[in-house]
Amino acid sequence: MVAETHLGVEHLIYPIFLKDGKGIKEEINSLPGNYRWSIDTLLHELESCLSLGIKTIDIFPAVDESLKDKTATYSYADDNFYLKAIRAIKEKFPELMVMTDVAMDPYSSDGHDGLVENGEILNDATLPILAKMAVAQAQAGADIIGPSDMMDGRVGVIREALDLNGFEETSIMSYTAKYASAFYGPFRDALNSAPKHGDKKTYQMNPSNRREALLEAELDIEEGADMIMVKPALCYLDVIHELKSNFSVPVTAYNVSGECAMVIAAAKNGWLNYNLAVYEMLLSIRRAGADGILTYFAKDFATYIRG
Ligand code: PBG
Repeated sequence: MVAETHLGVEHLIYPIFLKDGKGIKEEINSLPGNYRWSIDTLLHELESCLSLGIKTIDIFPAVDESLKDKTATYSYADDNFYLKAIRAIKEKFPELMVMTDVAMDPYSSDGHDGLVENGEILNDATLPILAKMAVAQAQAGADIIGPSDMMDGRVGVIREALDLNGFEETSIMSYTAKYASAFYGPFRDALNSAPKHGDKKTYQMNPSNRREALLEAELDIEEGADMIMVKPALCYLDVIHELKSNFSVPVTAYNVSGECAMVIAAAKNGWLNYNLAVYEMLLSIRRAGADGILTYFAKDFATYIRG
């Protein structure tokens, strides 16, 4: 009666890694219990996710090094396995909400989210590439486009490109306050997408800043974001609270790979009770104000609350 916060499977978005090929289920060393799937094995897995009540997934592609280049051309290529998989998933499970990722890093030979020239990230020159990628994903059937790149102005450019191509109904969940964080390690292992040189501090946010997140949110909403995200979640609960208090669009939070890996590792050592720690973590993110949570715990949490 007195519980102020509710946490259910309906609040969770399950991030999933996809790889080209057949019969693949490769465990990610730094994120045990999470895998790189090929489309055939993934379709099976999604059946069990749906039966547990998971309604939304976010898919990330692990692209072969040989297909990467400076301008991320594979990201919108006709024969792109990621785009083909989105089609297959929406065909088989039209009721499953599919979110896709817009950023250059999985396809970039530099391992950066934007175009690199002389060691610098070119913000404006990156925008048309992101727009092309977003349109290709919408064409494949994506319901939610997730720009994770942090280039300034990309939400507006993506919104315009989607509308011009007839995708007015495709929504945008913007990575609004994405911090230059130490907690992305396992994700970069999963995609082999770590920067080849330099870091992401010229485009991701400084962890010392909270007010800047308000500015980022104002800009994203003005440019057409339907939902705004804070990432990572746990070191940034105050930022989640701030955005929730100041804006009326839905706020989501990304409980990132490193945050999940810490709990998995401690639980494996017998230092923490896995299910209880996961529950408390996710509840804290909801209590801070997140409507939705992207988390690698989605399936385990769904299984736990069933049982
Ligand atoms: C990059 C991207 C990253 C994540 C999602 N998209 C990593 C990065 O910015 O280097 C991290 C997610 C996670 O750690 O779970 N576009």
